[in-house]
Amino acid sequence: MRGLEFVLYAREDVHDPRGPAFSLNLNTGPRMDHHAGYDPDAEPRFWFILDVAIAREHALSVAGPPPATVLPEPARELIASAHREALAWWREHDRGQALLAAARAAAWAETGRWLSKGAAAEALIISVDRSLDLLMDLRPIGTVESPLTERSEAPKQGDEGAPDAWLAFDESVAAGLEGIAAGDELLLLTWFDRAARDVLQVHPRGDVSRGMHGVFSTRSPDRPNPIGLHRVRVIAVDGTRVQVADLEALDGTPIVDVKPVLGRIDER
Ligand SMILES: C[S@@+](CC[C@H](N)C(=O)[O-])C[C@H]1O[C@@H](n2cnc3c(N)ncnc32)[C@H](O)[C@@H]1O
Repeated sequence: MRGLEFVLYAREDVHDPRGPAFSLNLNTGPRMDHHAGYDPDAEPRFWFILDVAIAREHALSVAGPPPATVLPEPARELIASAHREALAWWREHDRGQALLAAARAAAWAETGRWLSKGAAAEALIISVDRSLDLLMDLRPIGTVESPLTERSEAPKQGDEGAPDAWLAFDESVAAGLEGIAAGDELLLLTWFDRAARDVLQVHPRGDVSRGMHGVFSTRSPDRPNPIGLHRVRVIAVDGTRVQVADLEALDGTPIVDVKPVLGRIDER
């Protein structure tokens, strides 16, 4: 046992807008410094905001009404700033505890519920594990070589006057190019490396008269995952280099994948 934290509040003082103001804060026990506080302004208020918020959800009533009916629900902003102050305090005094407190704050921010620090750390591990599973490992398999170098000079789509270009594939994927020949129609997937990834709304084709549209209803290169989709015709194949007609991707654009355009069902 670490010790006893006994905090006494007058009913009216738990409603203090700066957070609950105690009448007595007594700490004592085998692994706790003895402390008796009578002045709530002499001690950081954030501990008591967190304690009362946790008590509302988890405390057991020994006598009298349930805690949630006696203790006010602190405003979310007040709890958020108490978390921030507690984290700053822990970072200065105990980095291990800071991590546990951060896990509990993260669980609260996500669910609005209070977990013990141990349970919050467990929940964080599980959620990080899940994120790692979802992490996609996308590697370029080649690069576009094109006379186009500026976004402003590129046509919006390949069939709007784009030049011929070379797809320079990495040697490591050479075997995957077998079967591709002049005359083939391909779907080329590129990674628009010069796109903005924080754009969710655009004027389609940059035409302000058309109003704002969600990027997923447009072919804008600026989007969270800037993948370009191009239908191209193969002009020539030279080892790992494939020349295609009408490609509006800029010089240096990474290639993500390439697939054939499908013909009729009975021709596949
Ligand atoms: C409107 S997007 C259409 C691309 C593709 N056909 C599609 O529908 O997904 C084409 C424009 O993307 C821009 N662009 C081309 N290569 C790019 C790159 N590597 N990074 C960012 N933008 C690029 C050029 O401005 C070009 O006009």
